Amino acid sequence: MSIFVAAATAFIIQSAAAQCSSSCDIVLDGRVPEGTTPSDFDSYSTSPFNAEYVKGEDLQWSEIVELPDVPPSIFDEGCAIPVEVTISDESIFNPSGDPQNGFRRAGLQIQGDDPEDPSSEGIKTFHWSVMIDPQRPLNYSHEYLLAWHETASYDANEFQFQTGSLIGRESQYPADTWKMIDRNNQVMWSTDIVEGEWQNFALTVDWDGNRLSTYYSLGDAPLELVSDSVYNNNAGDGQFQVGILKKPTGTSDVVNSGFQESGIDEGLIYGGIFVEDSASGCVTTE
Ligand SMILES: *[C@@H]1O[C@H](CO)[C@@H](O)[C@H](O)[C@H]1NC(C)=O
Repeated sequence: MSIFVAAATAFIIQSAAAQCSSSCDIVLDGRVPEGTTPSDFDSYSTSPFNAEYVKGEDLQWSEIVELPDVPPSIFDEGCAIPVEVTISDESIFNPSGDPQNGFRRAGLQIQGDDPEDPSSEGIKTFHWSVMIDPQRPLNYSHEYLLAWHETASYDANEFQFQTGSLIGRESQYPADTWKMIDRNNQVMWSTDIVEGEWQNFALTVDWDGNRLSTYYSLGDAPLELVSDSVYNNNAGDGQFQVGILKKPTGTSDVVNSGFQESGIDEGLIYGGIFVEDSASGCVTTE
C-alpha cells in the first residue's frame, strides 16, 4: 500500500460564518467569546476550557492568561478574541504530589475533551492559530510543545506542534521554526516563524485510518493543504492540549531535571482553537 494517498481534492472547502459558527460540525470549541475576562478562565461556567487543567499548582488561570490587544485570527473574526498563555518560574505542574521540575508548562484543554468524547474518533480536524508576543519571547535554545494530542494513558503524543531546538537534533532542524511532528517524533512539515502575523494551522486526523494531513496559512489567507495525508499510528485516544510546555536543557530526564533559567516571562498568543468533524471531507479553511 502506498504511504501517500491523493491530495484531499475531494474535501469540501467551507467558510466559517460570523458568530464562530462553522460549515462543518464543531466537536469541541475553544474559541474565546468577546467580552471574556481573565477571571472567567478560573470557572467552568465561564471558561471554554477546563479550569483546573495543567498549570503551576499555586496559579489560577486568571494569572496565566493575558488578553492581548491584537486583531483576532481569521477563525475568530467577529466572534472571539485572542488568548495568550504565559509561563513563569511558577509554572511547575504537580500532578498528585509529583512535581515536574524539569518543565515549565501551562496547557489549555477545551471543556468536554475526555476519553469518551468524539474528538478522538472518526475523522476530525484540529485547529489553532498562533502569534508571537514580542514582549514575552520564547527562547529557541529550548524545545517547546505548543499544541499536541496525548494518548489517554499518557504514553505518547499522536501529534505535536513544536518550536525551538529539538533535543538531540539541534543541528538537523533550525530552532526558530514551527514544526509539525508525528507520533514517532518525525518532523512532517515546518515553516518559518513570522512575527506580527497570525499563523494558522490545522491537522486532519483519521483516527481509524491512521493518517494525518497538515493545513497552514499566513495572516488572513485561507488554509491550504501543505502536507498530504501520511501514515501515523493514531491509537490511544486521549486529549488535545493547547499551551506551552518548555523542556529544560542539559538532561536526559526532561520531566524532572535539567536547566531552566530563572525569571522566565514568556508567552504565546493563540486563537481559533476548535475541533471539527471532517468525516464527510469538510474542513473549515477561512
Ligand atoms: C535561553 O536559554 C538558554 C539555555 O537555558 C540560556 O542560557 C539563555 O540565557 C536563555 N536566553 C535568554 C535570552 O533568556
